[in-house]
Amino acid sequence: MNTAATSVPDLGRIFEPVRDALSRVEQEFAKHLESKVELIPQMGKYIQMSGGKRVRPAVLLLAARMCGYTGDRDVLNAAVVEFIHTATLVHDDIIDEAETRRGRLAAHSRWGNDVTVLLGDYLYIRSMAMALTQDSLEVVRLLCEATLRMIEGELYQLTKMGDAAITEEEHLEIIRRKTAFLFSGCAEIGGVLGNCTDEQRTALREYGFNLGIAFQIVDDVLDYTSDEKILGKPIGGDLREGKVTLPIILLQQRTGPDVAALIQQVVTDRQVTPEAWLSIKSMLATHGATEAAYEKALTYGQTARAHLLNAFPVSVERDGLVSLVDYVLQRDR
Ligand code: IPE
Ligand code: IPE
Ligand code: MG
Ligand code: MG
Repeated sequence: MNTAATSVPDLGRIFEPVRDALSRVEQEFAKHLESKVELIPQMGKYIQMSGGKRVRPAVLLLAARMCGYTGDRDVLNAAVVEFIHTATLVHDDIIDEAETRRGRLAAHSRWGNDVTVLLGDYLYIRSMAMALTQDSLEVVRLLCEATLRMIEGELYQLTKMGDAAITEEEHLEIIRRKTAFLFSGCAEIGGVLGNCTDEQRTALREYGFNLGIAFQIVDDVLDYTSDEKILGKPIGGDLREGKVTLPIILLQQRTGPDVAALIQQVVTDRQVTPEAWLSIKSMLATHGATEAAYEKALTYGQTARAHLLNAFPVSVERDGLVSLVDYVLQRDR
């Protein structure tokens, strides 16, 4: 989200120190989609080619190299985290009934829910099988933990669907689980590969965790402020799905029972009339709720940055990870 008149940092430039490794991640990703059951490479390729940002693999690679890692297991692990992320997205779009993803039909809109659920399962198990080809059970444990937290987050979120009275803390618990733990795991795995100190490992974990929270808050803000053509997924989807996120929680903290009743009605009906949408968007702006949500993302971003700067000497990889915080905060897609 780019509230100031600054330009969005260029991801290609941020990823420059790991550019070659990222292209090997793509090869690794494609390799593990090979199967005699044609649907798997077919769907896998469709999703792989649809242009995800590859933020999580890049975090892992940059962290590993920042910690001095020179082997090639970082590429395998980066492909693993992108597999996990991909599995999550295909399942998430079924749950959220989101028809588009990355500017094209979501996998389930094209192949149906039954096939897509199984593809997601395949990706999850494949990712663990890939991780197990290396000798580090420590890394596998971190991957399992991040994935379990993510599923818990998605489940917890479902129990809060349609509840306009969700508290800020409950909501934060959802986003920590569904998004932050995976980012945290990516950064920490990089550190484990690079044999970093315990202190650095903690700093990487905190960096990823806070970056992940900022990432999800910005995602939730973009759901109100972006343009579908740029974002590649529907705008206003969260309210239609009955999902009450930070901008709306903060709006309700600043307004009275009338607004709470309107929000409750929208998330109960799972329908937003054009009038209600305009009214909610305008209130988000006039009460400063979108801005306040964004401010919170900024604070998490600052915390992420501070952990990194405190624990690591200057390097091109550290610069990349620091710039990634700016990207996450200013992104428009
Ligand atoms: C989308 O993640 C899911 C969230 C955690 C908000 P990304 O925005 O990283 O998705 P892609 O991979 O770039 O499409
Ligand atoms: C993020 O939540 C999905 C996961 C991390 C599991 P969202 O539902 O907000 O993600 P998008 O907006 O569909 O990408
Ligand atoms: Mg979703
Ligand atoms: Mg979203």
